[in-house]
Amino acid sequence: MRNIVAGNWKSNKSISEAREWMLEMGKAMVNMPQDVKVMIAPPAPYLSELAGGKRNGILIASQNVSSFSEGAYTGEFTAEMLVSCGVDFALVGHSERRADFGETDEMVAKKVRRCLDSNLGVVLCCGENLFSRDEGNQESVIKAQLMSALEGVGLEEMTGVVVAYEPIWAIGTGRTASAQQAAEMHFYIRSFLSERFSGDVAAETSILYGGSCKPSNAKELFSSPDVDGGLIGGASLESSVFQKIIEFDSSL
Ligand code: PGA
Repeated sequence: MRNIVAGNWKSNKSISEAREWMLEMGKAMVNMPQDVKVMIAPPAPYLSELAGGKRNGILIASQNVSSFSEGAYTGEFTAEMLVSCGVDFALVGHSERRADFGETDEMVAKKVRRCLDSNLGVVLCCGENLFSRDEGNQESVIKAQLMSALEGVGLEEMTGVVVAYEPIWAIGTGRTASAQQAAEMHFYIRSFLSERFSGDVAAETSILYGGSCKPSNAKELFSSPDVDGGLIGGASLESSVFQKIIEFDSSL
């Protein structure tokens, strides 16, 4: 199943390349399956222009958001600012932010709170590292990350949350989780949401898979009933490749 396919450009593309991608993708949107929501997370400097321009139904996400509200926090941008620019979602807790920028579980939880208080959608990222996977601890790692990030989040607020399961060992490595590994972890996350919130919340929350997803493996990865789409890094940079993932076209 897939109902959201989201791209994350990370720190890539010039503004003219970003505009070009939006144009190409915008044109292709008429041919995309109508039941799939398409989202892109461009670098922060482009958000205002892309979110305020012609979107053709493409959702715009920020790759980051401040854990603070407005004030003397040089370099930070708040959830309210993103909403005022027309941004729909923020990625929160991406493993690169956790590993390279010292983002702690506590900061992730604050960011989730800021987004929900500002009516900004959250794509909450979680994922275990290779050590935890090899030790067989992936479920407890994910449980701890989700417990912390969703602390204090109410049942009704979960309509603003999408979860992205991204095993760190599969991000940008070309080593994808097997469809079975993805299915097992997504099932686990849905069960967690059912226990922590309710069966309805669990059923209605989209859980995306991320990590070396590409046209050749998307269909298989998204075949599990618990995988509701993907968060795509490298393969979202070319709009033609990204389109193939959305369309389940595995041709090169
Ligand atoms: P990747 O990145 O598709 O390049 O592995 C995924 C992500 O980090 O969201």
